[in-house]
Formats: sequence, structure tokens, C-alpha cells
Amino acid sequence: PVRYAVFGHPVAHSLSPDIHAAFARQAGRTVDYTAIDATPEGFTDALAFFADTGGAGANVTLPLKEAAYALAATCSERAQRAGAVNTLVRSGDGWHGENTDGEGLVRDLTGRHGLDLRGRRTLLIGAGGAARGVAPALLDAGIDSLTVVNRTPARTDALADALGEPGRVHPRYLHQLGESGEFDLIVNATSAGLAGAVPDLPRSLVGMRTVAVDLSYGEAAVPFLAWARAQGVRQTVDGLGMLVEQAAESFALWHGVRPETDAVFATLQARAA
Ligand code: ATR
Repeated sequence: PVRYAVFGHPVAHSLSPDIHAAFARQAGRTVDYTAIDATPEGFTDALAFFADTGGAGANVTLPLKEAAYALAATCSERAQRAGAVNTLVRSGDGWHGENTDGEGLVRDLTGRHGLDLRGRRTLLIGAGGAARGVAPALLDAGIDSLTVVNRTPARTDALADALGEPGRVHPRYLHQLGESGEFDLIVNATSAGLAGAVPDLPRSLVGMRTVAVDLSYGEAAVPFLAWARAQGVRQTVDGLGMLVEQAAESFALWHGVRPETDAVFATLQARAA
């Protein structure tokens, strides 16, 4: 039997199985999609076992996105630029790596939230798998510039190098941010919120038209978005919409139809409220 799954660590509370079940109902299909816990050390073996037992496609979530990139036999251009994979498609005797996170974020911001990203001065906080996943799509969506900061500066530089657009991508130290002025869009792609923390940011980043986005959702998105509201941002967006949109992109890669996402998003949002 053909199987699908999301791999992560931890993964028990992932909403992806529910989302893919809803998409499958909508498409009139039966889809076997489960959550599989795998540590970075155990991921290669877990994925090999999955392939041997019918695995045809997988989502990959934290902290495995960079590991998934490393073990994919082939990759899309997006995944290549991201250096991170969130979607695996079985091809021949290997895996093809894709990254639908960025497309998901851009669809959520421009479609669901009606934002125009073109010409926006954008700040990306974080340089791990989540940040890598969204950066190429933000650049492709026509933002003006992407300033990247991260607690560990070496990862900032590695991400900026991988993006390969030195004219538009500006790696910065956190302590330099006070001199960077206001941003139109501030995207928190760190996992600090999982521990209830907020990266240490100056309030001078926020202006009257700033939109603050956290790529996480639920409790993990609260600390950063509360900080942003306290600084007077115009709008806050959490990662629930992106989660649904990236799932729809993955579903389309595996099953050839892109599901309608609004009803699924509304259900999840109501459940969270
Ligand atoms: P993910 O797939 O969620 O990106 P990751 O690759 O482990 O997971 O990356 C986590 C990101 O959150 C990193 O940018 C990390 O910063 P470091 O590279 O310095 O580790 C960032 N992060 C985690 N906790 C943080 C905190 N308390 N303050 C600031 N940044 C934090």
C-alpha cells in the first residue's frame, strides 16, 4: 500500500495528518498519512524503512529539513537555493526534494492576507531550516531587499551565500540592527517561541506600516507577535495559513490536484481559538 507521512522531532502534535486527511476527503481519495518521529541521527534509517514499506511521499519538519536536503538524490531549484527540503517525492530508488514552505508563505501573505510584497524592505530573523525554506520565495515575490540576522552569525553568512543575490540580501549582526531603520515586513523564522522566548530586537525596526509574521503557530507564535504588537505593528500573521498552504503544495506534488485551502484553514483556526 502507498503511504505518506510527516517526519519530525517532536512530531506528535503536528497538524499535517489532519490537513492531509481533509484534503484527501475533498479530493474523494483515501490517503494514508501518518506522523513519524525521527531524530536527526535516526532519520536516514527511518526514511529507508518508510520507502521499503510503501512510502511514496513525505513532509519533513524541524529539525530535519537540512538533513532531508542532504539525503535527497535530486532537488528542485527552490530546494537547492534554500538548502532545505520540506517535501520528498519517491522517484526511482531515491528521493526527490522540494521545498513548498516559501510558496506556502507567499500564498498566505498575498492571497489570504491581501499583502503586496513587491518593494517591501524585509527582515528575516533566523537562519535555520525554516528561514532557509522561505527566503528564496520571498525574493522571488519581488521584495526590495532581505536583511538576514541570526543569533549565530556564521549561519547568517551561510544563508546569505546560498541565496546568491549579494545586491539584495544583506547579512547583519543582531547588534547592528539598531542602525538598519524600519522594515515593512519582519519575519520571525527562529524557534525561540517554542521555549517562550523572543530574539533580542530593537524597537526601531518597527514603523507604522510594519507587518510582523511568525512562521510558527499556536503558543509558539505568541511571544514574538505579542512583542510586535507592543511595538505598534500594523498587522500580525502567524504561521497557520502558511502551514495549510505548504501542505496544499505538497499534496499537489504527490496527487496532481491542488486542494482548496480556505475551509481547512477556517476549521483549524476555529479549533485554535
Ligand atoms: P528550524 O528548522 O526551526 O529553523 P533550526 O534549524 O534548529 O530549526 O533553527 C532554529 C533557528 O532559531 C536558528 O536560527 C536559531 O538560532 P541559532 O542558529 O543561533 O541557533 C534560532 N533560535 C532558536 N532559539 C533562539 C533564541 N532563544 N533566540 C534567538 N534565536 C533562536
